[in-house]
Amino acid sequence: MKALLTLIVALGILPAPVSFERADGTSTTKDVEVVVGKRPFTRWCASLPDFAKKEAYRLTITPKRIRIEANTPEGVYRAETTLGQLEYPYPCGVIVDYPRFPWRGIMLDISRHFRDKEFILKQIDALSEVKLNVLHLHLTDAAGWRLEVKSHPELTAKAAWRVGDTWREWDTTGKRYEGSYGGFLSQEDVREIVAYAARHHMTVVPEIEMPGHSRETVYAIPGVGCREFSDDLCPGKEATFQLLEEVLAEVMDLFPSEYIHIGGDEAGKRHWHDCPDCQRRMQEEGLKNVEELQSYLVRRIERFLNAHGRRLIGWDEILEGGLSPNATVMSWRGTEGGLEAIRQGHDAVMTPGNRCYLDKVQDAPVREPEGWGGYLPIDSIYVYDPAAGIPEASLGHLLGVQGNLWHELIPQPSHTEYMLYPRAFAIAEIGWSPLEVKDADDFRERATAHAAALRERGYTTFKLEEEVGNRPASREAENHLGRGAKVAYARPWHRNYPAARAATLTDGNLGGWSYGDGRWQGFLSDVDVTIDLGSEKPVHYVTATFLAAPGAGVYLPDRVTVEYSVDGEHYLLAGELLNENPDGKYIPFGVSVGKDARYIRYHAFRTKEWLFTDEILIY
Ligand code: ACM
Ligand code: ZN
Repeated sequence: MKALLTLIVALGILPAPVSFERADGTSTTKDVEVVVGKRPFTRWCASLPDFAKKEAYRLTITPKRIRIEANTPEGVYRAETTLGQLEYPYPCGVIVDYPRFPWRGIMLDISRHFRDKEFILKQIDALSEVKLNVLHLHLTDAAGWRLEVKSHPELTAKAAWRVGDTWREWDTTGKRYEGSYGGFLSQEDVREIVAYAARHHMTVVPEIEMPGHSRETVYAIPGVGCREFSDDLCPGKEATFQLLEEVLAEVMDLFPSEYIHIGGDEAGKRHWHDCPDCQRRMQEEGLKNVEELQSYLVRRIERFLNAHGRRLIGWDEILEGGLSPNATVMSWRGTEGGLEAIRQGHDAVMTPGNRCYLDKVQDAPVREPEGWGGYLPIDSIYVYDPAAGIPEASLGHLLGVQGNLWHELIPQPSHTEYMLYPRAFAIAEIGWSPLEVKDADDFRERATAHAAALRERGYTTFKLEEEVGNRPASREAENHLGRGAKVAYARPWHRNYPAARAATLTDGNLGGWSYGDGRWQGFLSDVDVTIDLGSEKPVHYVTATFLAAPGAGVYLPDRVTVEYSVDGEHYLLAGELLNENPDGKYIPFGVSVGKDARYIRYHAFRTKEWLFTDEILIY
């Protein structure tokens, strides 16, 4: 994209047509002069870090010719990509360009819903042309094993096919595997994907999950779980390590990537506490707790990968119980895991959920397909700076940034594309462009146009020009009688969702589309609060909005009562409201009062798990 240009000196317009095609490693034309590894370009970028030198280029367009100078074929490719995005007639000038970070990735979860070779090749085209250079494939998870493994054909024979095509159907079915929904990549498919990606200067990083998210492995391979059915592998059993090493040996043969992702997230470790093999392992190895037992597994796997010249990367849970010596951390539960890894002298890739999780809806949830927990518009991604909070001297440990597209709620391939584009462009620009040239309005314009160009080429994309944006009520503070009033909580808010703490419900700030945006207060109880207006006032109406996100366990109350009082001791019921809209998403529960009062008690009764509200509005 054009934003990926750091310097343009206008020299006019190139007069003659140049028959240049998109860069895919297969064609350049005689009208474009390419110079690789020659001075003075090499000298000019001598001060750049090695990764930037590799991709740096200088593109010179004069009225007579186009000239590309780069240190490597990869640099030439980046220049050709830029050229392919300029519109004819090309603006004459000099573009000097190189990336901010070496790791600019997108993760596709092809376990929850399988995506085939053709689909992946198509995404490599679109992702590489915005200079993304890592395609991370989440190949294994409870929902399906997606990679042919010659030494263990049972993995795909038994666990690449499941019962129930949608997530909820599958997840609640007792007999889950050996159904007819699914698929997997053959080793031939993988070789083709890897070679295609290499021609587009993308690295395919494979992820083989361990020890959690492994229900399918335990199902397919008897003897690698603590029990017959388990979500986690058993780190106490040698059979587990034998399986993992045999699988990883094939993975390393297929994927030339320096990094092999071993997952590591969200292991429940439930059965490790009473599994005799796990307990014996802990005793023999002097491991104090199950976190150290996971760390034992990760360290052993790291030794195996390192012995084969590869590096281990895993989700930030691999910090728990002690990070293995050479591991790289992919920080997803916020940025803290990545920052901690860097403090410990390790490398990190930033993929914090609130900025990089593309499974969140990108526009008003009331008009989007259901997303997995939250609202993440493109603007919020674009302004993210992965280097925030990292001391200058440690920046070399920050490899870069990645967008993750989990697929629990994304059955259709077109839906995958819809979630990716244009938000992947924002991830690309975080990874490539220096902070100084970033411009949100300009990006928006280019992203809108580039998404339209992708649609012309048969991709499904979100249309930025039709974006509704954040919840209208959240855009300006709301004035009401209770604004600034003191709130007494009969039940406390949950510590994970404090919003503005005791000020939340009367600060005038209404929540946006996401319960996690810091404006919604979360309760694992009834919401039972009393607002003190300071003096007696005529009160007409009291209302509060609740949001529902059933996928995240957030539900509407089943009823609300509003009481009022003059003295704070004797309360009278103003009204009771039953929820008559059980499938609603952002529902106000309001009650007419029509009395003079100083105290208002608002009580919302919880039905299942969470309640979230943002403001008690009093008029
Ligand atoms: C993750 O989202 N569980 C890495
Ligand atoms: Zn065990």
